Parts: sequence; structure tokens; C-alpha cells
Amino acid sequence: MAKPHISYVCQNCGAATQRWQGRCESCGAWNTITEESAGSGIAAQAASRVRNGRVFKLSNLVDDEAAAPPRVTTGIAELDRVIGGGFVAGSVLLLGGEPGIGKSTLLIQACAALSAQGRRVVYISGEEAVDQVRLRALRLGLAGAAIELAAETNVDDIVATLGQGPRPALVVIDSIQTMWAPSIDSAPGTVNQVRGSAQTLIRFAKATGAAAILVGHVTKDGQIAGPRVVEHMVDAVISFEGEGGRDLRLLRGVKNRFGPTAEVGVFEMTGRGLAEVANPSALFLSARDAAAPGAAVFAGMEGSRPLLVEFQALVAQSALGTPRRAVVGWDAARLSMVLAVLEAHAGLKLGQYDIYLSVAGGLRVAEPAADLAAAAALVSSLAGKTLAADSVYFGEIALSGAIRPVAQGMARLKEAAKLGFRSATYPSSSPEAQADGEDRAAKGVAGRVCRHISDLVADIAAGKSEQRSSRAEPRRG
Ligand code: TYD
Ligand code: MG
Repeated sequence: MAKPHISYVCQNCGAATQRWQGRCESCGAWNTITEESAGSGIAAQAASRVRNGRVFKLSNLVDDEAAAPPRVTTGIAELDRVIGGGFVAGSVLLLGGEPGIGKSTLLIQACAALSAQGRRVVYISGEEAVDQVRLRALRLGLAGAAIELAAETNVDDIVATLGQGPRPALVVIDSIQTMWAPSIDSAPGTVNQVRGSAQTLIRFAKATGAAAILVGHVTKDGQIAGPRVVEHMVDAVISFEGEGGRDLRLLRGVKNRFGPTAEVGVFEMTGRGLAEVANPSALFLSARDAAAPGAAVFAGMEGSRPLLVEFQALVAQSALGTPRRAVVGWDAARLSMVLAVLEAHAGLKLGQYDIYLSVAGGLRVAEPAADLAAAAALVSSLAGKTLAADSVYFGEIALSGAIRPVAQGMARLKEAAKLGFRSATYPSSSPEAQADGEDRAAKGVAGRVCRHISDLVADIAAGKSEQRSSRAEPRRG
């Protein structure tokens, strides 16, 4: 079969097909396939590279030269922690996020922090003119920072320019979608160009030992070449997220070859750039209305850090044949499961109620340990009973109705104690035993062991969860 001159490449996942299709068979996305010149697509590129190989030297795994990778830290603790304790020399990191979320702001602040340590940092903007970047830096109070700037999009020129002078500690490419390589015969922003440009920049980073950050815009409809095609090429992927209309920004590790991925960095967008939030629990609990039924505080973990957030539930008589179920900040399937367990094992009748569940503050909780807090909020709303204002909940609910123990109970209790909480409801084989030992910090928190979902329902119905509290709100209903 003759080789076609053009192929059709999905801009979302990079899969190539011979024919245009409305829907990509590989990733299932709609309207993402565009025409590109032959040689695009993963399979085509691999096939064209087969030639006689050069013999290279193999090295030993236990070679002690490559012990711990050297890292440079920015001093912005929330950022350093998420990337695993600083930038690894020669590593390439992809920072993804929706337009306007604050990626450029975060990176110019990181650059300024590094340059203040006397390191060479280069910021290449493909989207904004040098003056615009300067103006932003001015607004952030970073006008004095020794950051080298350029507005460039040709990666060959960029690599040639970076090769001059001393090795930079960090190179920021904002954004990878605006970059193009002259050797590639596709329009900037296509998968082919994004992948090709990323390859050139990654090769530069590995060869010189400079750390590089590639910014990637993620759009909801996936029309622009998604950074997903770059994800497998880079060493780390972190995403910058935020709720629309809120100032809270979360930096989340998605993939990291040199560190953990469960870490979350919390920032607040202010008039003078991004401010670190060192105590996110206090922020998430700041606007609490503890006097209302349906609110329960979850003692959660985000990576290695404990984080307290409020779960809010509203259970209301439904006027509809099929009652509504809506959830914000938590998994809808998980809510259905908790509701089914409450019906099957605690005898609650929820069929005729509309049920809404929301995690306050715009956080997205993924931990199964949140089951117990969600259940407590739901039962509290249904029963019209306010939970004790100074009580926290954590535990995973099994389909049998049993409450399963979760990891890091001690860290959760300590955080609760630190923020003035006095009681905690958690599953049986719990941190109590450990607390008798060296950890005195959590001693201010009285434990209430909850082994089965029916215990929780009985406790709330009897108003027991209000008893321990010295500053509990007056009871209702
Ligand atoms: P930006 O970093 O340009 O976003 P991205 O690079 O992800 O597209 O940030 C854009 C938004 O941030 C913009 O809407 C204004 C806001 N912002 C502030 O609120 N305070 C500030 O100090 C700065 C620089 C930006
Ligand atoms: Mg930007």
C-alpha cells in the first residue's frame, strides 16, 4: 500500500488514523481529529526512525555517582513540596491548568525566588510580549528580580540562545502550545508541533542539566492540542486548579518520577500575586456555620499533610418523581454508595428526598476516609440535629455497613487538636492505642469509636454527638 501524504491525528491523545472521523477511536473525544502531514502520530514516527544503531556504554544500577538527584528549592514551600522537594537538575515538568488560573503568575514568582538566590533563570513567553511580562512582575513587586526574559516561539532559536552563557537553573516555557520547530511541517499548536517542540526542549534539559517547566493550557472542550500528548514525555506533571470565582488555588502532583504525587499545595490569589496558605484547615473552616444541621468536619489528608474540611449536606423532601442527587467536591458514585448503605444497614428511608452534598471551600476530596463525615452530614440533615461544633469524623464505610480504619489517624487527630476540636469519631482499630504513647498532642481530642454505620445513626439520633462539647450549640428539633 502506498504511503499516504497526510494523516489524521487526534489533538487530544495523538492517535493517528488514515481517515477523518468525528470521534477518536482511541480516546473517545469528539471533534479532535485534524489533518496533519504524514509522519505524524506515534506509530508513524516510530516506524520512520528504524536505522542502524550506534553502540553505547551501559552503566551499572548501583553506580554511586547518581545517588540523590541534586535539587534546587525556590523557598516557596507549597511549590517545593508538591514537586518533591525542589526542581531536579535536568528534569522537565509540565504545569497544566485552565487559562487565567495563574500559571504565569506562579512561575514568575518561582523564577524571582530562584534568581534571588543568585541562580540564572530564563523565562520564555510565547503568549505575552516582554513588556507584558515586565508589567506583571512590576505589579507583583518583583521588578528588581534578575530574570532573563524573551518573547520567542521558535524552539531551535530558544535552545541555541539558552546554550550561550552559563547553564540556567530553571527555564520556563510559557506555553508549550505556542512553541514550534521549523523542521516540523505542521501548524503551531498541533499535536505534532507540541510533541516535537517538547522533545527538543527535553533533550536540551537532559543534555545541560537545566530544569525546565513547560506550561500547558487545558481547555474543557479539548480543541487545542492537549498537553496530554506531552505527559508521558516529561518527568513530572502538576496541575494548577481553582474554583471559578474563588481565590483559592490548588497545586496538585499528577505524575512525578522523582517524588510523591499525593501532595497538594494551597495558594490564594491576591492583588499582589499568589500567597501561600500555610494553614489550609483554618482557611477551609473559616466561614463555618456550625449551628446548622447537615455540617460535619472531615479530618482528611492531602498527601502527607492533614487537612480539615467541612462536608455540608441537605436532605429535603422531594417534589419530583425521581429525587435529585447532586454533589460538589466529592465523588457522585461514592455518595450513592453511602446512601445505599444508610438505607440497607441503618434502616433510613431516603427514597423520597432530594439530597445535596457539598465540600465547603472549593476543595475536591478523593479519600475514602471521607465516607464517615459525609454520612454524618447526611444523617444530621435528615434528623435535623446539629452535630457538635468541635467534632471531627473520619473512616471508610464498607458495603456491609462496617466502618473501616484508615491510615494516618494520629496525624488527623493532631491537626484537629491544633485547631481546637475536642472530639473525634473514627473506626475501631484506631489511633487511640498509639496516642497512649508518645503523642500527647492529640490527647485533647476525645475519641468516639464507631464500628458500624448504625452506631453513627443511633448516636446522632440520640443527640450523643452533642454531649461532649462544652460549647455546643443549643439543640434543635
Ligand atoms: P495568569 O498567571 O496570567 O494565568 P495563566 O498564566 O494561568 O493564564 O493569571 C491571570 C489571572 O490572575 C488574571 O485573571 C488576574 C489574576 N491576577 C491576580 O488576581 N493578581 C495578580 O497579582 C496577578 C498577577 C494576576
Ligand atoms: Mg499565562
